[in-house]
Amino acid sequence: MSDITIIVGGTGGVGSALARRLVAAGRQVHLIGRDPVKLSAIAGELGASSAVADVLDADALKATVEAAGPAVGGLAYAVGSINLKPVSRLTDGDFENDFRLNALGAVRAVQAALPALKAAHGTPCVMLFSTVAVAQGFTAHASVAMAKGAVEGLTLALAAELAPKIRVNCIAPSLTRTPLAKALTGNEQMATAIAQMHAMQRLGEADDIAATAAFLMSADAGWITGQIIGVDGGRSTLRTKG
Ligand SMILES: NC(=O)c1ccc[n+]([C@@H]2O[C@H](COP(=O)([O-])OP(=O)(O)OC[C@H]3O[C@@H](n4cnc5c(N)ncnc54)[C@H](OP(=O)(O)O)[C@@H]3O)[C@@H](O)[C@H]2O)c1
Repeated sequence: MSDITIIVGGTGGVGSALARRLVAAGRQVHLIGRDPVKLSAIAGELGASSAVADVLDADALKATVEAAGPAVGGLAYAVGSINLKPVSRLTDGDFENDFRLNALGAVRAVQAALPALKAAHGTPCVMLFSTVAVAQGFTAHASVAMAKGAVEGLTLALAAELAPKIRVNCIAPSLTRTPLAKALTGNEQMATAIAQMHAMQRLGEADDIAATAAFLMSADAGWITGQIIGVDGGRSTLRTKG
């Protein structure tokens, strides 16, 4: 049996799709989420262990990460927010909340898991999530872009500091059909218009992101660290019209 993999945000679109892929590959997972009903449904389906924590509660996050076990073969922090407003309407509270949820929560999870990651077999991977809106400027994205920019910086700093034992990588998705993005994807007219801005002419699905995350967290990716990988239908690099 391989060392356990922790997924913080295991009830989310990407987190649950990642959990399904890892379990299908024979990995044992420990899911952390804030909603006990959703959490026990997914953990029950997958035969996974689970623990309830709000990631904004530092002590609860630490306790649930540490409870996963003495050796941890991977940690994914699949928690996020999409708080889109013109900069004139963003408050200090918006910026602080997005930073705490996306960046501070991620580093706290890593700190709590560190002894168990160091005790793992092989080279475990910490998997973080940014957004295409860091490398590309989009209107109304100031708060999330700042918070996720911090996640990208954290990825590189940790990858350097924790090598060669622990790998650290980050996926920067474009708009993906998950509960997080429902305000945008729930309107089919808007979803179609945004899909057409992608070279691949569609929005992402949770499993598009989970497939890359599962690969990065596998032994096959043992020589990949310190990377920000766009899983974005070409949105970060390609223009097919005009
Ligand atoms: N979907 C997109 O278009 C998109 C685009 C760019 C980047 N991303 C990033 O991709 C990652 C995965 O997002 P997703 O699309 O899978 O979102 P999602 O479906 O909303 O999942 C997010 C997960 O985080 C959990 N969560 C949120 N706030 C929490 C809190 N305070 N304490 C504990 N758990 C909390 C959610 O719990 P509940 O189930 O209780 O809500 C859920 O499990 C995130 O980092 C996100 O920023 C997504």
